[in-house]
Amino acid sequence: MKLYLLGLTLLAALVEAFPASTNSTIQKRATPKLVFAHFIVGIVDGYTQADWANDIALAAATGIDAFALNIGTDSWTDTQLALAYAAARSTSFKLFISFDFAASPGFSDFSNQIVPRLNLYASDAAQLQWGNGALVSTFTGDGFDWSPVRSAVGHPLEIIPFYQAALAHQDSTDGLFMWNAWPSQNNQPINQTMSIAGDQFYQSQLAGSPYMAGVSPWFFTHYDPQTFNKNWLYLSDTLLIDRWNQILNLQPQLVELITWNDFGESHYIGPLHPERPSVYAPSGDSDGAIQWAAGFPHDAWRKIITPYIAAYKNGGPVTISASQENIVYWYRPHPKGLSCADPFLGPPTGQSFPADGIWAATLLASPATLTITSGTFSLTTTAPAGINYFATGMGSGQPTFKLVRNGVTITQGTGGLSIDLNSCNIYNFNAFVGSTK
Ligand SMILES: *[C@@H]1O[C@H](CO)[C@@H](O)[C@H](O)[C@H]1NC(C)=O
Ligand SMILES: *[C@@H]1O[C@H](CO)[C@@H](O)[C@H](O)[C@H]1NC(C)=O
Repeated sequence: MKLYLLGLTLLAALVEAFPASTNSTIQKRATPKLVFAHFIVGIVDGYTQADWANDIALAAATGIDAFALNIGTDSWTDTQLALAYAAARSTSFKLFISFDFAASPGFSDFSNQIVPRLNLYASDAAQLQWGNGALVSTFTGDGFDWSPVRSAVGHPLEIIPFYQAALAHQDSTDGLFMWNAWPSQNNQPINQTMSIAGDQFYQSQLAGSPYMAGVSPWFFTHYDPQTFNKNWLYLSDTLLIDRWNQILNLQPQLVELITWNDFGESHYIGPLHPERPSVYAPSGDSDGAIQWAAGFPHDAWRKIITPYIAAYKNGGPVTISASQENIVYWYRPHPKGLSCADPFLGPPTGQSFPADGIWAATLLASPATLTITSGTFSLTTTAPAGINYFATGMGSGQPTFKLVRNGVTITQGTGGLSIDLNSCNIYNFNAFVGSTK
């Protein structure tokens, strides 16, 4: 981004002032299209190197290239960074740090909080190198000047932060990441599907410098005012596939999946942790994410993400092999209008926006007949090759899914969560996600 801000005349002058000698010292690294997943280190106090190795293996199998390690200044941050890098070193999977300025305003003390960590990891074998150097990202930090960090770190950096607006010191960065991967306006839920207006704004600001787009499957959070005062959803019924289809057209230089493990906002695609309840409530809050995330796996969404990553990287349409044929389904536990016996707080903002539906995405090498049933609702339709989604109304009990081609059943299954049309313990607008294979 340094260069585009200078304007053409100044740029020409700069090129003349720094001729071939500078040119040969800038060894620009390769810039292949890559896909990352945002990993919240702030909830994994007590993770072992084996825990990291497990998450890394799952992410690598999905086609993800690296974790963006979101860190604050928790007491376990450096222990967990060391374990993560140790786990990744024996694999081809990469890591980089994403400094969370919103959680830790202390990062403005960069010489103590940023520089030592980059000096420790920027040249690590497991560190992602891309473009000008070791990739570094952020959550917010608008206006932070990276120039002194670059000078103090003994390794070239590629700095791609998430800034919420065009503010000061973007000339000290290399590109930008856009976190806003949900339909919203001024951080408020809206009754619209995801728009690419935000991507287009960032891309026009960047004028060709690296743009990292955010992709997210869902958003629901339900913390009471004593904890975080966060109680809303963004309309996400078909967001994952709609957003990936946008990405295939936009072809940004980089993509970051939001997130691997943020259970609190229901946009995780990594595994649940029944063995480690503290990840759902890292500060010991009784009203933590365990209420809406435990028992609500999202793993099957990764089966949708894998073919999209391949299509994004090769620039073509989504293709599904015979062995990838599947039904991935998702639905909520109760209708949106139901009044719940919620001991903590009322319904989320945006409650009225989602449809009361059962969604099934078909992954097909060639067309087949899909049948969904849910209570008294049912749908039978022809699903084309590729990835497409379909929905029925939300009925009582466990929905069923079936794919048939030429009279032969390809795959079938029953949803693992029973829908209750009449009562609910909390306002849970998280998705239960599964697949028939
Ligand atoms: C500077 O680098 C560019 C791209 O790496 C190359 O095309 C160009 O010839 C170089 N110029 C000089 C003067 O070495
Ligand atoms: C949201 O928009 C859809 C169509 O785009 C409409 O059918 C629905 O009634 C709207 N819901 C609300 C609560 O405004």
